[in-house]
Amino acid sequence: MDEILINGGNPLNGEVTVSGAKNAALPIIAATILVGGRFTFHNVPALKDIESIQEVLLDMGAEVEFHDNIFSIDTGNLSHFEAPYEHVRKMRASILVLGPLLARMKRARVSLPGGCAIGARPIEQHLNGLSRLGAEITLAHGYVEASAKKLRGTEIYLDLPTVTGTENLMMAAVLAEGRTLLHNVAREPEITALADVLNLMGADISGVGSSTITINGVKELHPVTATIIPDRIETGTFMVAAAITNGEILIHECQPAHLKELILKLKKTGADIECRDKSIRIKGNHPINSVDVKTMPYPGFPTDMQAQFMVLMSVANGFSVISENVFENRFIHVSELRRMGADITISGSHAMVRGVSELSGAPVMATDLRASASLILAGMVAKGTTRIKRVYHLDRGYDAIEKKFSRLGASIKRVPAQS
Ligand code: EPU
Repeated sequence: MDEILINGGNPLNGEVTVSGAKNAALPIIAATILVGGRFTFHNVPALKDIESIQEVLLDMGAEVEFHDNIFSIDTGNLSHFEAPYEHVRKMRASILVLGPLLARMKRARVSLPGGCAIGARPIEQHLNGLSRLGAEITLAHGYVEASAKKLRGTEIYLDLPTVTGTENLMMAAVLAEGRTLLHNVAREPEITALADVLNLMGADISGVGSSTITINGVKELHPVTATIIPDRIETGTFMVAAAITNGEILIHECQPAHLKELILKLKKTGADIECRDKSIRIKGNHPINSVDVKTMPYPGFPTDMQAQFMVLMSVANGFSVISENVFENRFIHVSELRRMGADITISGSHAMVRGVSELSGAPVMATDLRASASLILAGMVAKGTTRIKRVYHLDRGYDAIEKKFSRLGASIKRVPAQS
């Protein structure tokens, strides 16, 4: 297994292009289950998670070609309606096939995802909503088994705005008979991106981006060609990289409108930020001011940027409180950051971060995707060498990140693991 080796201290300068959004590509690929035919998606990032959803669809009988960020899939001959444990345990987002399978095949058998490093992550909102649409659901032997003679539009109130839950229900409802109203839905840009593709396929969805989505069921859909939106979390990670290393980065092919809360917070830390239509220029300005953040569903501060922002605060001038309100256990990076000299104390869902003048390079362990990104950022600013183990977490969600950082001037490389 590979490791990432970083020698800290270089400011990052230059230009970088952001990849397509993993969390938009995953539901959009799952949506191809809804109708047989050939779909083509551009700007699909080359990630382990994309390979995982590809494997799920291949097992169902789809044909896939994926090269140069073009993902082409033919779902004309789907014969299976199952996402087995061996796939779902690798990637929880495999649950996204549940809604579209029910809509097209009227049957689905999907392994229960279970928890992961950042929380228990139940899916009862997905299941309750599907029952409301008319599905019969049983849980047996670690699997969700769902069937429906017919899905019928109805009114559904989510207890909380779950992202993949909203996506699953939207996909289930597009072919249902009549109108579905989904209340208290998530408003993430990736949900809008999925709705845009579904509408292009012939669906009738409105209200996306607000807290109620209306879906008028249609009789049929058709395959499409579409482009995946830019990854706002990768963009944010580059922004923090410029701020923390006192560098200057011009980020191309991004969507500043999706990052308003982060941009506001980074400006308060002292960074200079200039946004254009599809680019952001960010210049670090040390010393870094301490700023408090609370993660919230979109348009609040993204939980997927919490770990990276915490690293910035760990070398800021002063004291900040970072509150995690989306996942119950998303501070697992803290113990590794402490080993690098960060002064962070956790109390419940709050992390108290006292800025230190310097982090020191150390061997550390990646524990989840965004935690891995935070350790890279810490390594780039730490004195000496940082060796990050278990980088497969990173490969799940960042497309060639070490190459992109290296081009910006970081001393970073992927090496075979030391025993
Ligand atoms: N929740 C429930 N019941 C449910 C569904 C969710 O209690 O039925 C809880 C979760 O346990 C969590 C909160 O609601 O505490 C929000 O979870 P949500 O369902 O919104 O998360 P998700 O859909 O599983 C997506 C992203 C995550 C991102 C979160 C929050 C994808 C494939 N994943 O997960 O991305 O952190 O939304 O924005 O879209 C990542 O990319 O690193 C990542 C973890």
